[in-house]
Amino acid sequence: MQNDEDQFSQSIHNIVYCSRAVPGMDREALEKIITTARYHNPRFGITGLLVFGSGIFFQWLEGPRDNVTSLFKIISSDPRHSHVVLLTQEDEFRERLFPNWDMELVEAVDISAVLEDAMHETTDPKKKNTLSNMLQELNKSALGKHDN
Ligand SMILES: Cc1cc2nc3c(=O)[nH]c(=O)nc-3n(C[C@H](O)[C@H](O)[C@H](O)COP(=O)(O)O)c2cc1C
Repeated sequence: MQNDEDQFSQSIHNIVYCSRAVPGMDREALEKIITTARYHNPRFGITGLLVFGSGIFFQWLEGPRDNVTSLFKIISSDPRHSHVVLLTQEDEFRERLFPNWDMELVEAVDISAVLEDAMHETTDPKKKNTLSNMLQELNKSALGKHDN
């Protein structure tokens, strides 16, 4: 596992995917996932957010490349969801988008607002571009709609 101390001089690896939760995914089950994530992620220098709505997950993972890809492999085979679709995976030289979130759970109805705020606040054009792409992906999927 890589050390993420010097995060500004190395690239941050991102993975964004969406998946379908197993039927019956409720608040308690969601909180179990988040508790596990918050326990493991800081040790691996991973931050991000998990969106859940209409039975669909959307997760943003960022951190050192090896750690993010290893975690994604583990998450992909988790029986609590299926139809895992990798939306984007890239290395970027920039600051983290969510430096303080070991794994934040965001309700689907709020996610567009969270991303739009972050997009307007940042002065980093790369960050702006990434956030804009995430918003577009969300708007294409059911998650972006406010009727869930
Ligand atoms: C949608 C979803 C998102 C997850 N996100 C994370 C995560 O960010 N970090 C993490 O360690 N585990 C996450 N998990 C759980 C992992 O798949 C796996 O169950 C866990 O890492 C195993 O930890 P344990 O060996 O301590 O039980 C997620 C699971 C699901 C279904």
